[in-house]
Formats: sequence, structure tokens, C-alpha cells
Amino acid sequence: MMDIKKVFVADAVDSACVELLKKFSIQVTCKYKLPKDQLKAEIATYDALIVRSDTKVTADVIEAGKNLKVIGRAGAGVDNIDINAATAKNILVLNTPGGNAISACELTCSLITTLARNVVPAAASLKAGRWDRKLYSGHELYGKTLGILGLGRIGKEVALRMQSWGMRTIGFDPIVPAEEAKKFNVQALELEQIWPQVDYITVHTPLIPATRNLINESVFKKCKKGVKIVNVARGGIINETDLLQALRSGQCGGAALDVFEEEPPTKPITLELIQHEKVVATPHLGASTAEAQIRVAVEISEQIIALTGKSSEYTTYPGVVNHSVLEKIRK
Ligand SMILES: NC(=O)c1ccc[n+]([C@@H]2O[C@H](COP(=O)([O-])OP(=O)(O)OC[C@H]3O[C@@H](n4cnc5c(N)ncnc54)[C@H](O)[C@@H]3O)[C@@H](O)[C@H]2O)c1
Repeated sequence: MMDIKKVFVADAVDSACVELLKKFSIQVTCKYKLPKDQLKAEIATYDALIVRSDTKVTADVIEAGKNLKVIGRAGAGVDNIDINAATAKNILVLNTPGGNAISACELTCSLITTLARNVVPAAASLKAGRWDRKLYSGHELYGKTLGILGLGRIGKEVALRMQSWGMRTIGFDPIVPAEEAKKFNVQALELEQIWPQVDYITVHTPLIPATRNLINESVFKKCKKGVKIVNVARGGIINETDLLQALRSGQCGGAALDVFEEEPPTKPITLELIQHEKVVATPHLGASTAEAQIRVAVEISEQIIALTGKSSEYTTYPGVVNHSVLEKIRK
């Protein structure tokens, strides 16, 4: 198996990660938020690199990691890692796919309920000294239809929870079969069937070419006036310019956004969206819970330990992203 003796942790991963690696006599160095040149200088002697979202593992960082065998992301997406560059150098890329699913799901559900009852603007109004009861009257979720795009780990959990509020759940996923969706009470439909039916849309897909701008001007036009939308997946799945336009016209009745095309946001359109009175925006908090951070920290360490073959307890690596590298290692 892999000879992993030295691990460099470049982002603030929960200490459970370091503790577990050390138990298996793996040497760990933690240096957070290093400028790129320093990271490139440091990384040369390490066998594995662990990051969260802050560190961008670009091709030049990978090139500088002369001994790198593994890059681990303590989190779900791997957008901050150049997978092609890593694969070209036979470096295994790992993530922790399920570790933060419940946290992301719970934030999504909170945002749906928040939108329904105008919780955020009403609370801000009261703090500002007003008593605007009529202005912030909302809607029940009971009997409303929720469209879930992406019926993977998070989409499924959101469906199960929002059903307990009495919502009807319909959805689309090109991979999950309709019979599977039915098991968690989601009616699988084509996108064109979904748009006219939904009161709320929530997206839970990766950001890939097929999902970039999945929600755009033409989609808003096909939805009921006042449709509300939630994105706790990835910025770019909802076209921000088109969303702002739909909010201005009233075609979209409210949006809750945890993720943005650029993070932290600096583009004028995004900043205007965040300021819009019908928008509730959070700074990419989907995985930001104590439980999820411990879970992803432990899961990334378990997989690295499994790769060393030193443990009879940790033997699997479900977060392998570039399987072709794993196949080469196994040969
Ligand atoms: N905001 C956060 O902090 C946070 C935290 C965790 C995960 N996420 C993001 O949430 C998203 C979902 O995560 P997950 O763990 O459920 O992933 P998952 O892989 O379990 O599920 C994603 C699903 O999307 C489906 N899909 C792919 N293309 C699609 C398309 N064109 N239309 C509809 N569905 C499509 C896939 O078939 C898959 O079933 C990811 O983008 C992930 O990065 C964000």
C-alpha cells in the first residue's frame, strides 16, 4: 500500500484529524493560510496534503509537491483541487462525501422555513425598533410543492425532512432511478414537468457543465409567479443575473443563498443580490457545524490511514475522486 509518513494540513481542519493520524505514527504539520509561494516551498517533502476550502491546490502547487501521493479534502466538493493535474502525476484525490450532508441538509431546511415566514427581515425590522406585523405575514409550507434538483445524499435528506412539514416533494436526478426516488417519497419527473408545479426549488447537484446556470431566465418564466429558491450546493447553479432580474420582477418571490459564483463575493451583481430585501444570504455555512467538522476531519484521516494498510479498523476509502489513480496503485 502507500507509504505515507508525513502529512501537511494547510487549512483549519478539526484537531480530530491530526490526533487520529498521529495514533498511526504519521507525522503531521499544520500551517494554515500560507501564501502560495510558501506553501509550494513547504509541500515538497510531504506525502499527503489535507485541505478544506481555503487552499487552492492548483497545478503549480501539485507540481511543487514532489513526494505527494494523496490530496485530501475534508469536505464534499473538490472544486479547489486541480484533479487533472493531480491525476497526471498519479496523486490520489480524496474527499469526505457524506460527512457534512446532514449539516447541509439542515441548513437547507432552515432556509426554506425562513423564507416561508420572512423570519430574517422581520427579525431585523424588530431589532430596528419597528413592529411591522402585516408586512411580514408569510405562507404555510403545508401542501406546497418542493422541487428538488439532485437526489443524492443531501437532496434525499431534505426531501425526508420537508415531507414532515406536509410538503409534496418532486425532483429530478439523471442518475437516481424513479423507483429509488419513490422509496423516499419523491416523485421523479423531467425538468420541464417540474417547473410549472413548484412553489419552492432547492438545488443539490455538483457544479458541472450540465448544472451551471441550471436555473436561469427561461426557467423562472416557466415557474409559477413568486416561486422561491434555495441554493446550499454551489454558486453558479443559479444564474445570479437572472435571479436578480426575477426577484425585481416578482417572478421569484424569494431566494436563500449559502453559496455564490465567487466567494467571498465581490461582483456587483452578487453584492446587489445579497442586499435584496427578498434574499436571505449566508456565507457558505452548509458544512459549518461542530458535528460535520469533526466528521469530515476523522473521515479524511481514516482514509489516509486505510491507504497505508496499517489498520485493520480503517480499510476503505469511499472518497476517492480519481479512480484511475487508485487502479494504477493497486496493480
Ligand atoms: N453549502 C455547503 O457548505 C455544502 C456542504 C455540503 C455539500 N455541498 C454541495 O451540495 C451538493 C450536493 O452534495 P451531495 O453530497 O448531496 O452530493 P451527491 O453526489 O450525493 O448528490 C448529487 C446528485 O446530483 C445529481 N446530479 C448530477 N447532475 C445533475 C443534473 N444535471 N440535474 C440534477 N441532478 C444532477 C447526481 O446524480 C447526484 O445524485 C454538492 O454540490 C456539494 O458540493 C455544499
